[in-house]
Amino acid sequence: MYASFKSIGAYIPPKSLTNKDLEEIVDTSDEWIKQRTGIENRFLATDEQSTSDLAYEAAKVAIERSGLKKEEIDAIICATITPDYFCMPSTACVVADKLGIKNITAFDISAACSGFVYGLNIARAFVESGLKRNVLIIGAEKMSSIVDYTDRTTCVLFGDGAGAAVIGTTDKKEEAILDVHTSSDGEYQDFLITPGGGSKYPCSQDVIDKHMQYLKMKGNETFKLAVNTLTKDVTRILEKNGLTSDDIDYFIPHQANFRIIDAVGRKLKFPEEKIVLTVARYGNTSAASIPMAINDWYESGKLKTGDLMLLDTFGGGLTWGSALVHFNQKSS
Ligand code: UT7
Repeated sequence: MYASFKSIGAYIPPKSLTNKDLEEIVDTSDEWIKQRTGIENRFLATDEQSTSDLAYEAAKVAIERSGLKKEEIDAIICATITPDYFCMPSTACVVADKLGIKNITAFDISAACSGFVYGLNIARAFVESGLKRNVLIIGAEKMSSIVDYTDRTTCVLFGDGAGAAVIGTTDKKEEAILDVHTSSDGEYQDFLITPGGGSKYPCSQDVIDKHMQYLKMKGNETFKLAVNTLTKDVTRILEKNGLTSDDIDYFIPHQANFRIIDAVGRKLKFPEEKIVLTVARYGNTSAASIPMAINDWYESGKLKTGDLMLLDTFGGGLTWGSALVHFNQKSS
């Protein structure tokens, strides 16, 4: 029995925030943002929408495209760093309630931008062990709720959104998730951090006055580590599975920065047409970025059933990972 990627869905929030809009908010320019990141636009949730609302919309699409009844989903894993509530209930439980699914395993995971690949690994283990049959994994973020719109070094980078997938079973290797690798190094915990609001610096007026509830990033240091780590990680998963870039139909990386994707893509000799790029339109949507990119490629008609996807990701923790996954959605 193999685990299989049975469907994809996504939700793009309604409000567009362009680089020109950001020029009105902080000391930045369309030219700087495009040149350094490749980002042109991002979408933001409304004030009324929380992460579970975005997740719910993506999950509905993924369940419908899987051809399963919602009652057949027996676990929900939500990867997010912007949960509806600080401690509890988990966003996965809130989404389960919105979907009308009861009495199943539901929990959140915190692996920042790597959350979707981490979730994929857990879902694969659930399914291959026989513990669960159909697992809904979601990457959903309302990044605008933790972005400091007075800090030009971070606020130009992030957007909101959600993506979801159903992981089920198959007995055919050509329909399977071939491999997933996840890793971390806590030594670099301060490279991407929201310092305030947790048990170390609980919420207080002082925390708020110092903007410690917002995301902080050592951008340049993170950039260098991301390129080196991802190149090694992707090379390793290909070699381990006896594959080369020629065997991959689409390289679908985490969409943080065009320059990171380009550097890794070049080192691995991927031709341009195999590299999936959505960063210009959505910015960095953290755990949602990979499933949103898969969904874009599927909806544009490029990603077909049977295609072999190579995913890679890098984010706060630091965490990273890669995956070799056949796209096995049978219905639309
Ligand atoms: O998703 C999780 C993982 N995240 C990442 O992988 C992100 C990795 N990092 C990056 O993508 C890039 O490092 C950034 C896009 C964040 C920054 O690009 P950079 O080329 O590394 O720029 P930098 O941080 O070295 O800053 C260069 C200059 C600085 O000015 P000085 O000190 O040289 O005078 C910054 O103050 O650019 C300045 N700067 C800006 N200028 C205009 C920083 N942000 C902005 C801005 N607009 N928004």
